[in-house]
Amino acid sequence: MLTETTKAKGLADLPPVKSDSLLELIALCNADPRPEKIDVGVGVFRDDQGKTPILKVMKEAEQRLLDTQQTKSYLGSAGDKRFTELLRPILLGEHADDDRIAGLQTPGGCGALRLGFELIATVNREARVLVGTPTWPNHPPIIKAVGLSAVEYPYYERGQGAIRFDDMLAALRSAAPGDVALLHGCCHNPTGADLDEEQWRQVRDAVIDRGLIPLVDIAYQGFGRGLEEDAYGVRLMLESCDDVIIAQSCDKNFSCYRDRVGSLWIKTGSKEATATAMAHVFQRAREMWSMPPDHGAAAAHIILEDPALHERWLVELAGMRDRINAVRQRIAAADPRLAFIGRQFGMFSMLPLSKDQVLKLREDHAIYMADSGRFNVVGMSDEQIGRFTTAVVAALNG
Ligand code: LMR
Repeated sequence: MLTETTKAKGLADLPPVKSDSLLELIALCNADPRPEKIDVGVGVFRDDQGKTPILKVMKEAEQRLLDTQQTKSYLGSAGDKRFTELLRPILLGEHADDDRIAGLQTPGGCGALRLGFELIATVNREARVLVGTPTWPNHPPIIKAVGLSAVEYPYYERGQGAIRFDDMLAALRSAAPGDVALLHGCCHNPTGADLDEEQWRQVRDAVIDRGLIPLVDIAYQGFGRGLEEDAYGVRLMLESCDDVIIAQSCDKNFSCYRDRVGSLWIKTGSKEATATAMAHVFQRAREMWSMPPDHGAAAAHIILEDPALHERWLVELAGMRDRINAVRQRIAAADPRLAFIGRQFGMFSMLPLSKDQVLKLREDHAIYMADSGRFNVVGMSDEQIGRFTTAVVAALNG
């Protein structure tokens, strides 16, 4: 007879898991029957009517795909290679022809991050990842899942709406060679507080001085200042460092969230070393998801390949960016304490509210935002902005 200590564990022995707070918030908001509810929790773009429409170019590309696709046979772990090629100039700019840089399609930006950290863990299990806090809540679990340790440093002063740049530099300068600097390419999630060009250059200098590997997470290219401007940090790292990893997402700028369209990019000091790194990347991808889902990337491929559709995508992307920036200005104008929101970029900002105040906004006003005070500036319709700012200002007044 098996004793208590030798008894094999069954699935019933699994410990409880703390649920993901953002996914929980989505479920809570969906379950709220109040018609006036305002969902500024999850990060999806919404238009002035509060809708997340499929881009017109995406609809057209999907129709073309439906009409012309001849097979759904396997493509391999790299996914749609032409899609990745078409992304090169958009993401890499003047580095597009550098043969030391290679990329592959991934399931969204999250898949790219996981794969990038897997590669780091393959080359150096001792590498630590420097993470500015607050960060996207899924960053630390991904780092932990691959067995790397994270070193957190304060990135943002919530009350001031300002980057704690001295703390950031001090953390990077005290890191060990081979450690990884996780950097937000643009439209910082969750704060909206982006490095300016001078700050990027100082970060680059610290990365080089300490022999760190920059891993740039760029999930919102085109939502901040513009497609080119938003890639400044990515391109600066490519220009200056031998080893660079870039985790990219098209889920937002093609508004195809659930289709999971992303890519991972690797740069090393030589074409040969990059080929070896990519061989590891393909192996890790094969172990985890074998091949990425095709549909969204196939449609994005059609858009990027066709000059007329490409042009229209740029126009629709500019429309989303313009709305983000216009709503930011409206919220910023509502109270001097919200002025910082008008100086930030992308979909997110973080309000200096306590968890209790956030909860009260939820209970009294049906306004759903993350406990941290992070809110999606374009989560609400135009018509809801006034009610949102009135409730937030009242909460700030205590
Ligand atoms: C967000 O931060 O709201 C998005 O990136 C959605 C997600 O997966 O967390």
